Amino acid sequence: MTSANSISRDSSTVDIAAKTAAATALLRDIARDFSPAVFANSFGAEDMVLTDLIVREGIGIGIFSLDTGRLPSETYELMAQAEAHYKIRFEVYYPRHDLVEAYVRGNGINAFYESIELRKACCQVRKVEPLQRALASKKAWITGLRAQQSATRDSLPLRQFDTGNGLEKFSPLADWTEREVWEYIRANKVPYNKLHDRHFPSIGCAPCTRAIAVGEDIRAGRWWWEDPDSKECGLHVRR
Ligand code: ADX
Ligand code: SF4
Repeated sequence: MTSANSISRDSSTVDIAAKTAAATALLRDIARDFSPAVFANSFGAEDMVLTDLIVREGIGIGIFSLDTGRLPSETYELMAQAEAHYKIRFEVYYPRHDLVEAYVRGNGINAFYESIELRKACCQVRKVEPLQRALASKKAWITGLRAQQSATRDSLPLRQFDTGNGLEKFSPLADWTEREVWEYIRANKVPYNKLHDRHFPSIGCAPCTRAIAVGEDIRAGRWWWEDPDSKECGLHVRR
C-alpha cells in the first residue's frame, strides 16, 4: 500500500513539476515573441494558476478580466484578495452601458433563460464585445482552457490562430488535469474562489452557474438548462 501510494505521489509530483516548467517556458516565449500579449483572467482555478505563474515569475504579460456585471460576489472577493496577495491591480473591462441598456429594455433583466439566442446575445454584450476591445492591437492572448473541461474542448491545442479575433491564442494548461491544477494551487498557496469549496468547479456569471452533484460533469453547472454541445459563450469559438 505504501509503495503504491508513494509511486503515484512521486509520479504526480514529477508531472506537476514538468508541466509547471513547460507552462512557464511557454509563457516566457509568448512574452518574448508576441508582445503585447495578454492573459484573460476569469479567476477560475486554472486562471489562478496562470496568474500565479505570470506574477511570481515576473513575465511581461498583461492580465485583464471581463466584469460582466453579473459575477458572483465571491469572484469579486477573490479579485480583491488576489490584488492584495500579489500587490497588483488587474485591468477590468466592462460591457458598453448602451448595449446592456438596450438588451435589458428589449428583453428583460434575466432574458438569457428564455432561449439560446437570448442567452448568446447577453454573452455577446457582456463578454464578447468587451473581449474584442481587450484584444485590440494585441499579438496574442492566453486562456486557462483545458482539453478535459468539456466535449467542446476535447481537441484543444496549446496554440492556435484565433481567426475571429485575428491573433494567436495560447492555452498553456491545455493538457493539465483538474487534479494537477489543484495540486499546484495547494502547493503554492494560491488564492482561489470560495465557491470551488461549495461544488462549483466551473464559475461564470451568478445567474448562469450552479453547484454540481456528485458524478456530474465539471461544466454541468454552467448554463445547465442547455444542451452540453452548445455550452460556449462566444469567447471561445470552435472550429
Ligand atoms: S466560458 O467561455 O465558459 O465562460 P470558462 O469560464 O470555462 O469560459 O473560462 C475559460 C477561459 O476563458 C478562462 O480560463 C479565461 O481565460 C477566459 N474567460 C472566461 N471568462 C472570463 C472573464 N470573465 N474574464 C476574462 N477571461 C475570461
Ligand atoms: Fe449573460 Fe449568463 Fe452570459 Fe453572463 S453567462 S453574459 S449573465 S448569459
